[in-house]
Amino acid sequence: MNNSNFLKALRLEKNTVPPIWFMRQAGRYLPEYQKIRRGYKNFLDMCKEPRTCAELALQPIERFDLDASILFSDILTIPDAFDLGLAFHEGEGPKFSNPISNPQDIAKLQSFEMEKLSYVYKAVEETKRILPSNLPLIGFCGSPWTLAAYSIEGGGSKDFAKTKQFLFQHPKAVKDYLEIITDACFQYLKQQVLCGVNALQIFDSWADLLSPEDLETYSLEYTRKLTRRLKEDAVTSNTPIILFEKAPQKAISDILFKDLSCISLHWSESIAKVSEDIKGQFAIQGNLNPSFLLESDEVIQVEVQKISNVMRDFPGFIFNLGHGITPDIKPEKVQVMIDAVRT
Ligand code: CP3
Repeated sequence: MNNSNFLKALRLEKNTVPPIWFMRQAGRYLPEYQKIRRGYKNFLDMCKEPRTCAELALQPIERFDLDASILFSDILTIPDAFDLGLAFHEGEGPKFSNPISNPQDIAKLQSFEMEKLSYVYKAVEETKRILPSNLPLIGFCGSPWTLAAYSIEGGGSKDFAKTKQFLFQHPKAVKDYLEIITDACFQYLKQQVLCGVNALQIFDSWADLLSPEDLETYSLEYTRKLTRRLKEDAVTSNTPIILFEKAPQKAISDILFKDLSCISLHWSESIAKVSEDIKGQFAIQGNLNPSFLLESDEVIQVEVQKISNVMRDFPGFIFNLGHGITPDIKPEKVQVMIDAVRT
């Protein structure tokens, strides 16, 4: 396992061919996913079936022979465990029936009951059981900030106007909530490691909502607290941590800190610039724009080549997309991308 190209890259060791996995590799673009998905009305019900999760996590591995697997679940399981009432409505994305609407909602939250998410830990165990024994499994959570933004907004949104107003009016309450979420994320990730995950990724998918100062105050401060606790805990101290920051208003080199092993680069970042800035200190994962997978094979090959040229001698490079794959992408195009990386 420790000799896997993926874990080697996270230790900044060079690989002749970069390891490949991609965000949302198990999902609606795969017909074999759709087939299982049709058996569940609510996406969350599917996440609560450990065997199904394991089977879904395995699908892209079997189809594409990838170098890492990611737990099949969702970042919104934690707010759901605080009884915010998560549901995924057809064609709408996530919605909370009981979002955080005022500071009292935060004051009266029950403490986090880790066992409420036992279906996730079981999914980790089931997935480890059926994955090839040398294939690393990535566990994950949302960043405290991203989970807070969804909890306040009540779901996805274009501009997160409600969240921004709440932050302006109740900064102290937001910070209280971030503390609670940070603690929950720590317990949740620790349990995933106990059940067998080999690396962790933190998704700060709403980093782009914050000004540089607010990014520090509301996002990075809590992500750092979370990773510090993971590094101080005997169970999790050796588990490498990857951070995904979606288009932050700050240079990546000013965001990274020593408890991280790797940055998952959004497609809007210049991988040439970032790789120069952080070479030898952190691994890089990324950052092909998933929209290129809607283009011709030639375009895909050219874009992969550009990244490969820049990253050829970079110690610790993991090929990935610059954000999640979308349902409109054809699996054959993913194969074209993978072949281009490997040849
Ligand atoms: O292969 C994998 O990566 C699977 C595991 C996974 C899912 N969601 C499954 C999923 C992971 C790692 C996530 C993370 C996640 N979830 C993020 C962070 C990554 C990012 O994209 O920035 C976020 C923001 C979410 C929240 C979320 N979950 C949204 C916004 C949606 C709706 C998206 C959409 O395209 O409609 C989901 C649902 C979801 N999570 C699906 C999957 C496969 C689709 C659900 C379906 O089949 O109906």
